[in-house]
Amino acid sequence: MITEILGLLTPGGRRFLVFSIAGFVLYALTGVAMSLLVLKILLDVTGGSASGLPTLWGLLFLCLLVKGGANILADLQKHYAGFDVVLQLRRRIVRRLKTFSLGFYTNERLGEIGVIIHKDVDNMEMVVGHIWTRMVADFIVSILLIVPLFLLDPIMGALMLSTLPAALLLLGTELGKGRRIEEENGDLLANMVSLFVEYVKGIPLLRAFSGNRFLDDELAESARGVGLCSERASRYRAGMLARYAFLLDMAFLVMAIGGIVRVWTGALPVLSYLIFVLVGREFYKPFGAMETHWLNYLKVTDSYARIKSLLDAPVVKEPVRPRTPRCFDVSFDHVSFSYERDGFAMRDISFTVPERTMTALVGESGSGKTTAIHLLLRFWDVAAGAIRIGGVDIRDMSYDELLGSVSIVMQNVQLFADSIEGNIRIGKDGATRDEVIEAARRARIHDFIMSLPEGYATPVGENGVGLSGGQKQRISIARAFLKDAPILLLDEMTSNVDPINEALIQEAVSELAVDRTVLVVAHHLSTVRSADQILAFRGGSIVQAGTHESLLEDADGYYSALWRKAEIRK
Ligand SMILES: Nc1ncnc2c1ncn2[C@@H]1O[C@H](COP(=O)(O)OP(=O)(O)OP(=O)(O)O)[C@@H](O)[C@H]1O
Ligand SMILES: [Mg+2]
Repeated sequence: MITEILGLLTPGGRRFLVFSIAGFVLYALTGVAMSLLVLKILLDVTGGSASGLPTLWGLLFLCLLVKGGANILADLQKHYAGFDVVLQLRRRIVRRLKTFSLGFYTNERLGEIGVIIHKDVDNMEMVVGHIWTRMVADFIVSILLIVPLFLLDPIMGALMLSTLPAALLLLGTELGKGRRIEEENGDLLANMVSLFVEYVKGIPLLRAFSGNRFLDDELAESARGVGLCSERASRYRAGMLARYAFLLDMAFLVMAIGGIVRVWTGALPVLSYLIFVLVGREFYKPFGAMETHWLNYLKVTDSYARIKSLLDAPVVKEPVRPRTPRCFDVSFDHVSFSYERDGFAMRDISFTVPERTMTALVGESGSGKTTAIHLLLRFWDVAAGAIRIGGVDIRDMSYDELLGSVSIVMQNVQLFADSIEGNIRIGKDGATRDEVIEAARRARIHDFIMSLPEGYATPVGENGVGLSGGQKQRISIARAFLKDAPILLLDEMTSNVDPINEALIQEAVSELAVDRTVLVVAHHLSTVRSADQILAFRGGSIVQAGTHESLLEDADGYYSALWRKAEIRK
């Protein structure tokens, strides 16, 4: 973990780290120097030699200034180093988030990702900013002190260390248990946050069913679990730290009493004894701080494990030698697929969408239409068979190239917390204002945008609150116009849209479909009528294919049944 985190630091971050360690060493050493100076002044005053006193006072004051300065420097630099690692980690995570295969983003993960980005990454500041700087500096100081102390009196040196190994052994052996408790605590917390996210997302719905206690009990139980585990962790920590502190105090006591005995017997000068008592306190300080480092270390290893699990999650595999298709017909060749935790399975799907033609996918809810579209986008990879664009397996195309050749208008349009203009511009990075307006015009949404008080600058909040489904879909169509990709994937809205919106969407889609290879999940008669080919999906398989008229000829066929059940709206 340590080398991996060090590797994340920028050169500037490493410099901060080194300066901070140096600052803390200076801080501690000037503290020791001050104690010794006070001792010297005391001896001089009691010994009657006052000539060197002004210099000693001057030195004492200087030490005070240096100590203060070193402290400020070290403290600032340690935070800079900590923030550097946090920033690098967040950047890396954000870069990774885009490359994960979509199977990763299940609902419960959202809360977990939130905890990782917010809490776990912040915890990493502790490793760099607090543990490394303080701990390394403390131990440098301890070594710098123990050597001259041993030279001064080896027996006292040995007494000073007496119970120290036992204390350290205790910390070492308890590490595993402490880590398990932290892990459990972290997992429970992530689970609770996930539940909260789900709960908050569903509040409008839950309120509509006011008597419903769905999730309430689960959430309360989860919060109770987190509380209990935190309590247990606190009890464990308190017990553990008390034992450790006791062993440390014992070491000091052994040295203090042993020293008195040696002074008594005349084996040790009083001055040496005083030096041991004064400097000994400084020597023990890092070991006293070890308990805090130990606690931080536990927290941090757990957090790092979660960050690693995020960074190591499966990503979309890129081909070694990417191939570029020359044309844009789309074919599914004996494709099979199933979701990990769902009974749904897509079996042996084969069809071809010739270039610049439209194919409509129809079928009842849950028959696998959206899944087929998602497979083409490699949100998931097929289990068997292949999907090809212009004869090239989509797994052999670079992912950017694949996504670059496809425009998508989804069932549920995602709008970002930005202006309408910003939301349309997602279709093409760096598009000019005129291009955005032209795309909106063609998507039949320009007039509506202009009717808003702030026009294109109108903010559409998180999830585009304030716009109807039809309006959102037209914004999404404007994005597709702007992107101008050769393949168009369209998932028509299942919900009923008002007739005016409906007509506008139809017009816009017809214009968008011209000269493109189109796969549309269709729910409307006008769409299926204009399709060159209709594929009827049922339970993950294609049961019929043809044009609207030819399919209706088979009165007992599945398509005719769909038609009668009004799955296709007139
Ligand atoms: N992310 C997922 N994880 C597990 N199962 C899923 C996932 N997405 C869809 N499914 C399941 O796969 C099946 C097909 O879903 P799909 O969304 O492809 O249906 P659809 O034909 O588009 O339906 P609709 O007309 O309602 O949009 C359903 O049973 C659904 O529950
Ligand atoms: Mg669907």
